[in-house]
Amino acid sequence: MGRAGLAAAVSNAGGLGMITALTTGSPEKLEQEIAATRELTDKPFGINLTILPTINPIPFDEYADVIANSGVAAVETAGRNPEQYISKFKAGGLICIHKAVSVRHSLTAQKIGVDIVSIDGYECAGHPGEDDVSNLVLIPAAARQLDIPVIASGGFANGQGLAAALALGAEGINMGTRFVATQEAPVHDNIKRAYVESSERDTRLLYRPLRNTARFLKNAVTEEVLSIEKEKGKDIQFEDIRELVAGPRQQEAWFGGDKDRGVITTGMVVGLIDDVPTCQELLDRIIGEAEEIVRGTLPSTLV
Ligand SMILES: Cc1cc2nc3c(=O)[nH]c(=O)nc-3n(C[C@H](O)[C@H](O)[C@H](O)COP(=O)(O)O)c2cc1C
Repeated sequence: MGRAGLAAAVSNAGGLGMITALTTGSPEKLEQEIAATRELTDKPFGINLTILPTINPIPFDEYADVIANSGVAAVETAGRNPEQYISKFKAGGLICIHKAVSVRHSLTAQKIGVDIVSIDGYECAGHPGEDDVSNLVLIPAAARQLDIPVIASGGFANGQGLAAALALGAEGINMGTRFVATQEAPVHDNIKRAYVESSERDTRLLYRPLRNTARFLKNAVTEEVLSIEKEKGKDIQFEDIRELVAGPRQQEAWFGGDKDRGVITTGMVVGLIDDVPTCQELLDRIIGEAEEIVRGTLPSTLV
């Protein structure tokens, strides 16, 4: 998903597009993806490095070296404390963003030299953590305790969300789910259509008993995994569900268009998606709406 085409489209539209390092497949392929992105945009873009336990071992150090030497604008780490890589990234001139899911992890990120934290609330796609605090509380709680800037992540898709994030003390927003339903996202039209048709009730949290909670679009696989989790209770092992949630099945869903074949990372904000615009149309609309809302709340003498 976070590949050259979408990352460049987001940056060209005025956002900070991100390549997801691991989805390229190898550190060498990440280098190629960075070069491909540079062919498509001369605007700043960044790279996400997700340091989570995975089914197959990942050469995280090699990925970090490629990122540190890439000359891109920013790196966003996620999943685990990135302390071991921070000095390397800074030596490479990158802005270090760390994605955290709690105030305490954000404070740790600040302490180890991270420049910006991106905070994922309960609503988010992917891994919201185990605290279940939504962004209406989490963002202001973080903003008032941190000295570094906060980006609000999870549940944002429109100008109302951007204006709200700014009011809550964030400096900007990070969006995942909303960008899936754009013209440039390299996913099957069936999935984009499913996003448009879904409501805010159509996501499911899996892996909670494994303390690795993740949010996905409700489908046949999420319901099957949930029933296995229920049946096995606290004795559940990842092995019990490995086959159902494995990467190849996810790929078949995303790119083959069979929505019920694998798990599809999706946030609650899917319920606010009604169309499939270009990234430029989307960002122009979000900024326009937010400006209108902010102006509407100011005394007329200040507008
Ligand atoms: C399809 C998809 C893939 C994602 N992949 C990653 C990833 O590889 N690493 C990561 O840190 N976050 C990933 N995320 C999470 C986003 O970066 C972001 O934190 C989250 O989507 C914010 O919530 P939202 O979906 O409500 O906008 C992904 C999100 C989506 C929708």
